[in-house]
Amino acid sequence: MKYILMNKNTEVLVAEYDTLLKGFNELIEIKNIDYAPIIIKNSCQANQKDNAILEQLTNWFKGRGIPSFRDDLDLLLAKLNVTTAEELLDKALGLSLSDQYWIKPYDSNVEYKDINFFEHDFNSADFTNITFSDSNDYSSKISLISPNNTTDGRLKKTWIIDNHKRYLVKGGYKNEVMQPFNEVLASMICERLGFYHTKYQIDVIANKIVSKCECFVNTDTELIPAHQILHNNCQKENAYEDYINILENNGIAKAREKIEDMFILDYIILNEDRHLNNFGIIRDVNTLKWLDVAPIFDNGQALNILDYNDEEVIINGQGRFFYNVNDFEKIISHIKNIKRVDISKLDGVVEEFDDLLHQYQSITHMTDRRINKICTLLFSRINKLKRYIDINE
Ligand SMILES: Nc1ncnc2c1ncn2[C@@H]1O[C@H](COP(=O)(O)OP(=O)(O)OP(=O)(O)O)[C@@H](O)[C@H]1O
Ligand SMILES: [Mg+2]
Repeated sequence: MKYILMNKNTEVLVAEYDTLLKGFNELIEIKNIDYAPIIIKNSCQANQKDNAILEQLTNWFKGRGIPSFRDDLDLLLAKLNVTTAEELLDKALGLSLSDQYWIKPYDSNVEYKDINFFEHDFNSADFTNITFSDSNDYSSKISLISPNNTTDGRLKKTWIIDNHKRYLVKGGYKNEVMQPFNEVLASMICERLGFYHTKYQIDVIANKIVSKCECFVNTDTELIPAHQILHNNCQKENAYEDYINILENNGIAKAREKIEDMFILDYIILNEDRHLNNFGIIRDVNTLKWLDVAPIFDNGQALNILDYNDEEVIINGQGRFFYNVNDFEKIISHIKNIKRVDISKLDGVVEEFDDLLHQYQSITHMTDRRINKICTLLFSRINKLKRYIDINE
């Protein structure tokens, strides 16, 4: 079937989509390549052949879907009555709440203003229910006209509408409950240190602890993940400096400071998961102006939750740093200006987090011992950063 790839109201290219194989198999016309996803635009700039562009287009489009590693994907697909996540890709014209790309059937007159999920409500209750409830009811027909066809990431998640605002709701991994709390901890720390961040709060859905954050994209903007910005565009061993340079060259104010803030947060909470889809920039889709970094998001895989054991507190760890995995001590050494961090602003944050964990104990069944260990770890990390700042004074 012939589609026009759209970026909001702008026609990007025309291509044939194989609805069975769920991939593009013919590039018919390039109309406005500047408005293409950056990873595709860069392929064109590199003068790649049509086949390479097609492959990039297909990979990019497939990458919009729910990934194969989503927690309990099989169960979700069964409840949605589809066999693969790729089947969902074109159900709602590929629309998302993280950018403005969509595929318009070639002969259609449909317009962005009539279909986008920022301005048009979608049924979020059913998808939320099949995502988080333990019921194995496969009988209800779930609407596939929703932005939930195009969410990335490993954790169970759903977009909901609350008081006309769009929120992303995420659970913990398997039986772990700490991811949502770690998101909130990250918000507490960022708030106190003045880091530009996405604010997360705790909610309880179907007796499960979830985190909830407001959508940071609107009808005029898109999130461009770092991996697209860097693809074929950096020296892998110098990706950190290259990334900052690219952002600065595209007019993002205080780019270095903002990237540093993210890695300082990761150092404090031992966030292991700062992969290249977990940060990026916000671009205006009308003017293509780069506006800012994306507010720091996805901080749940932290505080050594994977390595937790009841006996000892492991206070070190490794984090992702562009194309490498490094000790946090090495990552922090890249920060040029650590002195600007007023660590005293974190006084009381351990107690605040301790209160939060106790508040939900009747749902999480987390033992006092575990809470105590988690808070001891947090306390140690803050002290470690304090010592590091003192040494570098
Ligand atoms: N507040 C938001 N507004 C718009 N888009 C968002 C928002 N938060 C996350 N996203 C998008 O949704 C994707 C998935 O969210 P997130 O990274 O929080 O999930 P995750 O399951 O924890 O991911 P991972 O697999 O990295 O652990 C992000 O990569 C980003 O593209
Ligand atoms: Mg993520």
